[in-house]
Amino acid sequence: MLKQIEEHIIEVEKFEADSIESAEHFRIKYLGKKGVLNDLFLAFKNVPNEEKKAFGQALNKLKIKAQEKVDALQKHFGDKEDQGNRKIDLTMSAEPLRLGTRHPLSIVKNDIIEIFSRLGFTISEGPEIEDDWHNFSALNLPEEHPARDMQDTFFIQRNPDTLLRTHTSSVQVRFMEKNDAPIRTISPGRVFRNEAISARAHCIFHQIEGLYIDENVSFADLKQTLLHFAQEFFGKETKIRLRPSYFPFTEPSAEVDISCNICKGKGCNICKYSGWVEILGCGMVDPNVLDNCGIDSKKYSGFAFGMGIERITMLKYQVKDLRLFFENDIRFLEQFKHA
Ligand code: DAH
Repeated sequence: MLKQIEEHIIEVEKFEADSIESAEHFRIKYLGKKGVLNDLFLAFKNVPNEEKKAFGQALNKLKIKAQEKVDALQKHFGDKEDQGNRKIDLTMSAEPLRLGTRHPLSIVKNDIIEIFSRLGFTISEGPEIEDDWHNFSALNLPEEHPARDMQDTFFIQRNPDTLLRTHTSSVQVRFMEKNDAPIRTISPGRVFRNEAISARAHCIFHQIEGLYIDENVSFADLKQTLLHFAQEFFGKETKIRLRPSYFPFTEPSAEVDISCNICKGKGCNICKYSGWVEILGCGMVDPNVLDNCGIDSKKYSGFAFGMGIERITMLKYQVKDLRLFFENDIRFLEQFKHA
């Protein structure tokens, strides 16, 4: 048996392959599951104890030699294949790249930005971690104001003066502090509220704020601007309706509904059979807010509005569950490819 192993060793050392096939044949013969080495290792169990040492050493030598040979052959034929056999056709067109798709919230945000850009609005942004002044006090919501409770605020524990902004109205304040009138700006961004997550509410969502300040700006300007937006975004046949409302930072304030774009006003479960759906809050900027932000309220007036991007997206694409926007399920996102 020992002799047999030695013969194998000689054969391994001598072996030369002239093709990948013969190299592979060699590999299977020696290292394969039913190959020479496995057979010999099985036979090793029955070798008498006094012969085990010599037999074991020879066997290990064979194993190492065979493995080295196989490695060398693989390297040889692998390199050769890389150089010789691989034909590169430089005229071939490239593999198409699989492009991702834009998130529906980004598509809608960009559409809204485009509509207001055409009216001369600039884009402004502010921090998501805000202080009390910009999120509340400057907007006519002093401490102890009951309307603060409407916005379930996340406070940052280490400094109770800092919080996650509850609306993008904070960016109005920052913009007015930095810029003189006239002002036309919209501020898209992420906002946070301590709400239980459901099909209709989330603790993180997106808003777009609008601000227009100039001499002699009137409520009629506000209404016309929003009508224009609604018709550009939801279609020319869209109607709007303003309902009186309350926001501390605007006076007078209103909520705006559009005629339901799904049932065209006939009544469906999206508009709760009223024919109208709410899309935003708005109003004439309260003179206190202008003064807080360094704008002369005797000379200037203006309007502001704020809308939820999720809400508008749900209406436009008939998405019934807000949570879908955050799950990033590719099957959902891909549907907006051509939107
Ligand atoms: N900040 C309000 C909210 O988050 C939305 C809003 C209402 C913004 C009226 C405005 C406005 O600028 O004038 O609910």
